[in-house]
Amino acid sequence: MSPSALLPDGVGIAHLPNQRHKIVSKRGAKFTLMVCGESGCGKSTYVNTLFTSGIKDPKKLHLRHTKQTEKTVEIEITKAELEEKNFKVKLTVIDTPGFGDYVNNRDSWMPIVEFLDDQHESFMGQEQQPTRAGIIDLRVHACLYFIRPNGHTLKPLDIEVMKQIGSRVNLIPVIAKADTLTPQDLAKFKRNVSRKGGERALLICLTHHPSITQILDVIHAQGIQIYSCPIESDDEEVTSTNQRIMDAMPFAVIGSTEDITIGDRTVKGRQYSWGVAEVENEDHCDFKKLRTLLIRSHMHDLISTTEETHYESYRQTQMETRKFGEQKPKKYENPKFKEKEEQLRLAFTEQVKKEENRFRQWEAQLVSERDRLNKDLEAQHAQIKAMEGELEQMYQMHHRGPMRR
Ligand code: GTP
Repeated sequence: MSPSALLPDGVGIAHLPNQRHKIVSKRGAKFTLMVCGESGCGKSTYVNTLFTSGIKDPKKLHLRHTKQTEKTVEIEITKAELEEKNFKVKLTVIDTPGFGDYVNNRDSWMPIVEFLDDQHESFMGQEQQPTRAGIIDLRVHACLYFIRPNGHTLKPLDIEVMKQIGSRVNLIPVIAKADTLTPQDLAKFKRNVSRKGGERALLICLTHHPSITQILDVIHAQGIQIYSCPIESDDEEVTSTNQRIMDAMPFAVIGSTEDITIGDRTVKGRQYSWGVAEVENEDHCDFKKLRTLLIRSHMHDLISTTEETHYESYRQTQMETRKFGEQKPKKYENPKFKEKEEQLRLAFTEQVKKEENRFRQWEAQLVSERDRLNKDLEAQHAQIKAMEGELEQMYQMHHRGPMRR
């Protein structure tokens, strides 16, 4: 299947005006997407699903070797090249290790935030070089934050991490494993669809799902920055697509690379005793809307907001707080190195103590030597004085008068 068949509406710049479309087409684009969130909430499965249902280009695609169910332990990068009507997109997807497994989870998500800063830092450094050809740019244009479908609300850990990420890159909240919503929720959902009918009703239902409303409420109350794009356009159809996509935020997704046959259709989905949760079925989840946002309708906006808002804000902050050429201070220490650093610190303190003792002993030796010399000097002085006295007496005895000096 050709990429155009998989992406019937084009990639990346579908909504740009003609003139701009031509300029951007010529250059092509590089788009970097990152996924992060708690361990085991379906990030790797989502990435694999994305690559097997919509942006597959077998010649250029490099899929990870990790099995779907394996825990991601280090940052994994997958690349693909998409081409549509002479417009090329170099797509990079970064899968990050999940966090939240420890009692103190602070250190576990810091490498992700550090990674985001490092990409801005590295780009800024390369920009300041005399030759700027061959710049390596891994600045993240969109970060999908996977929220566990607990049906309640955001956890304090989610809030903390989302705050950090949202102030650095375009943050897009995603509700993971949308198929695990309770039967009651599903029943309510079905009733709403059958009562009101049509997709609009489905949207109302999705966006007013209690957990979704609560998540958005918390996001707003906590001042978490999430991605939002201009909705209005000259083209009414584009405006309504933008509205439809943005209304679905936070996107509820289902991940699966399994092909399941339902009658004469083969779909990607998850097979349950009660039926199939389909990845690309808009009645089941927002996977398709999110994919459209990322690789078609809003890719250009995500790239330009990264450049103009997020990178620019990083650059300005660094320019205001650092001297030219000064290294970026490490905000977060790598826990792996902490132990080693502590050992080195102790060894150093021990060494200093030993040297200090040696110095004290040496000082004491010097003082006692000085005292001994002083005593000798005093004794010699006394001896001389005594000899002088004797000499004086002898002189007086011979010359009957005081000695002339
Ligand atoms: P880490 O690598 O530990 O960060 O995990 P992860 O977030 O990458 O999760 P992963 O994709 O490895 O999925 C964990 C488990 O969840 C696997 O058993 C998946 O099959 C399952 N899973 C993934 N997506 C979905 C989904 O949409 N619905 C359901 N029900 N299960 C899912």
